[in-house]
Amino acid sequence: MNSRRQLLALLADGEWHSGEQLAKTLGVSRAAVWKQLDQLKVQCGLQIHSVRGRGYRLPHPFEPLDQGRINNYLSALSARSVPYIEILDSVASTNSYLMEKPPAQLTSGHVCIAERQTGGRGRRGRSWISPFGSSIYFSMFMRFSLAPAELSGVSLVAGLAVVRTLEQNGIAGVGLKWPNDILCDGRKLAGLLLEVSGEQSGPSNVVIGVGINVHLPTEQAEMIDQPWIDLKQIAGGEPLSRNQIVAGLVSNLQEVMTAFEKEGLAPLRQSWRSYDVYDGKAIQLLLGDRTIQGIHRGIDETGALLVETEDGIKAYHGGEVSLRLA
Ligand code: BTN
Repeated sequence: MNSRRQLLALLADGEWHSGEQLAKTLGVSRAAVWKQLDQLKVQCGLQIHSVRGRGYRLPHPFEPLDQGRINNYLSALSARSVPYIEILDSVASTNSYLMEKPPAQLTSGHVCIAERQTGGRGRRGRSWISPFGSSIYFSMFMRFSLAPAELSGVSLVAGLAVVRTLEQNGIAGVGLKWPNDILCDGRKLAGLLLEVSGEQSGPSNVVIGVGINVHLPTEQAEMIDQPWIDLKQIAGGEPLSRNQIVAGLVSNLQEVMTAFEKEGLAPLRQSWRSYDVYDGKAIQLLLGDRTIQGIHRGIDETGALLVETEDGIKAYHGGEVSLRLA
């Protein structure tokens, strides 16, 4: 563990710690502690309260992302092999980080998670607000023997894995909004960004990016341009472990992706529909400057949205598409 992580681990309880005590525990000078605290504030954007005579504390208790804890939760969840998990303090975007690596250097299932993203990316060119330690910023690299064109359902089954993970962690009332949003109480709780590359005939490389709001600080949350919610609001005072949720994501993604690779979306389609919050409702679909009005009639076996219009039922694929209630 590097010294910055060690310092963070000491502060994680949200209690006051004097500079002297921190220096003694870490075996460094008080000046070195002060420098590390300053770096946590300036480089990581972390809020650290300081009061003369009391010392330093975080605004609330904080569970750092931790390989050992994730592995423990993972081994309790599944007997599958534990994937390679990279934990970064700060990165532009966990998706970009994996996309920029030569695919030959990655094994299928390689995961990257970060405490903070400085250039978190959402769908349709949006940014994803990613303050330090406040959410889950997760990306998994997967290699499929299928051609990129056959992978349109992957983003939907990935959403199913997120919903299952949240439910297994006691989060009720979570639903899916085609193609990639996870909602609770009509507000956005999580989103997925899938990026696919590869030869036209396969194999394909996919980076599955998942962002889940856990405990967003108000100032940053104000920058979100749509109704949002975080796990803290849903779970009330119940403590939530980001490490446990990350382990759940890994395990559920492995499970749904294995099923998808064998049989496509078909076996998971009913389960997806059962979480679809707009199914059967009057909707508007925005496709560039075109607006389609109709009734949401579920999804087909490729993951396309079925919309009943005056001309019958038509299928629409994801990408630069936005769905809303009419
Ligand atoms: C969306 O709903 O617009 C998709 C949001 C996806 C955000 C996640 S956070 C981890 C990964 N890295 C990114 O830059 N984006 C995804």
